[in-house]
This record gives sequence, structure tokens and C-alpha cells, in this order.
Amino acid sequence: MDFTDQRLSYEKGTLDQQSVPASPFELLKSWVNEATDQQVKEPYAMSLATCGADQKPSVRIVLMREITDKGVVFYTNYDSAKGQDIAENPNAEVLFFWHELERQIRISGHVAKIDADKSAQYFQKRPHDSQVGAWVSQPQSGVVASRALMEDKFEQLQNQYPQGEKVPTPAFWGGYEITINEIEFWQGRANRVHDRIVYSHDADSNDWTTKRLLP
Ligand SMILES: Cc1cc2nc3c(=O)[nH]c(=O)nc-3n(C[C@H](O)[C@H](O)[C@H](O)COP(=O)(O)O)c2cc1C
Repeated sequence: MDFTDQRLSYEKGTLDQQSVPASPFELLKSWVNEATDQQVKEPYAMSLATCGADQKPSVRIVLMREITDKGVVFYTNYDSAKGQDIAENPNAEVLFFWHELERQIRISGHVAKIDADKSAQYFQKRPHDSQVGAWVSQPQSGVVASRALMEDKFEQLQNQYPQGEKVPTPAFWGGYEITINEIEFWQGRANRVHDRIVYSHDADSNDWTTKRLLP
């Protein structure tokens, strides 16, 4: 397959270093809101890149569940491949791409587990069957011989914890917060001369500085 004749011109917006807000969180929230308004499906879905001690990067989608005053939170299985990577190397990146707005947001930061109580609170808010699903998928990323084995385990757990009964929060499941060190806002422009504004955090002063990057 050859895609070299496929090209779109990006012309939906602009991004100007002089007019961006001082805090990147303001811009992040307003871009997420605009993506929601533009009917982007699951605008909070983001690609998460991690790299463990083997130096091999790996990437997958997770759902951003919260924007805090430090960064973004997602939930997963701590024993998963990504959990292993994070235990070995807490540096990670996440990326949002919203074609409808011709925008991407790239976040680079430091990952840490959130408070177990907060994870439990969120776990208990999830639908009963998703809670059961979390128990089925242990250890997430491990090899399983067949789908039938997973379905049997699901059924067995459904019997153990029928609808309406509390499913215990697994110790192996919870949230991670990515504290943002750098965040880049990318707005597609015509002729591949795109706008890129990156905010960098200074830990000592707690200030953000911005730079424009070549596209
Ligand atoms: C739209 C979408 C949303 C997803 N959300 C999550 C999530 O929030 N947490 C999660 O652990 N996996 C989520 N997944 C599954 C992951 O992409 C991945 O398959 C899984 O976490 C195992 O990744 P790992 O083996 O690299 O650890 C999602 C997948 C898709 C396509």
C-alpha cells in the first residue's frame, strides 16, 4: 500500500505564544472542552508511552480520568506490562490527537501511584461488570490460553459477587498520576508550517515558561 498521494491541509486554527494562558492547565482544559463540543469521541483517550529497563518503548491507549493541579490521572492494573515499565522507569509521555480539531497535545512527565483510598473510591464507582472484569484480567498483559478460560473466570466471579454485591477493590489495580514537566500544544497549519507551543515547568519557582518549536 502506498499513501504518498494522501495529504490533507490543516487550516482550522492557530496558536500564538503571546496569547496562550500562563498556565498550561487552562489551555489543556479548554482544548478538552472544545474537543468534547466538536463531538470528538472519547477525547480523554490518550496514547501512553512507557519504557522499562529493557530500553524498549511501548505504547497503548488509556483513558484520562482526571486533570489534577499537577497533571493527569489514569487507571490500570499495576501488574501489567505498563505497570512493570513504570516501576522500572517513572518517566512517561502521553499523547492526544483530535483530528476534528487538527490538534495534538503531548505531555511528558513523571508517573506515580495515587493514593489507594482514591483508587478504591473510583473502583467502587465503576459498573459492577467492569469491576469483575478487572479481577478477570489479572495479571493484565499475561498470556492466556483461550477466551473460554477468561469467560469461565468471569462467570465464576459473577457467582461469587452477584449483581448488587460489593466487588472488593483489587490491590493490583489503581490510578497513576502523571505530573507534567512539559506539555506541547500542536495546532495543524497549512503547508506543514504548524504551530507548536511547549510549556516547561520550573520545579523551584513553580512557574511555566513557553517556547515556540519548529514544526
Ligand atoms: C479506547 C481505549 C481505552 C482504554 N483504556 C484503558 C485504561 O484506561 N486502562 C487500561 O489499563 N487499559 C486501557 N485500554 C487497554 C490498553 O490499551 C492496553 O491494551 C492494556 O492496558 C494493556 O496494556 P499493557 O500490556 O501495555 O500494559 C484501553 C484501550 C482502548 C482502545
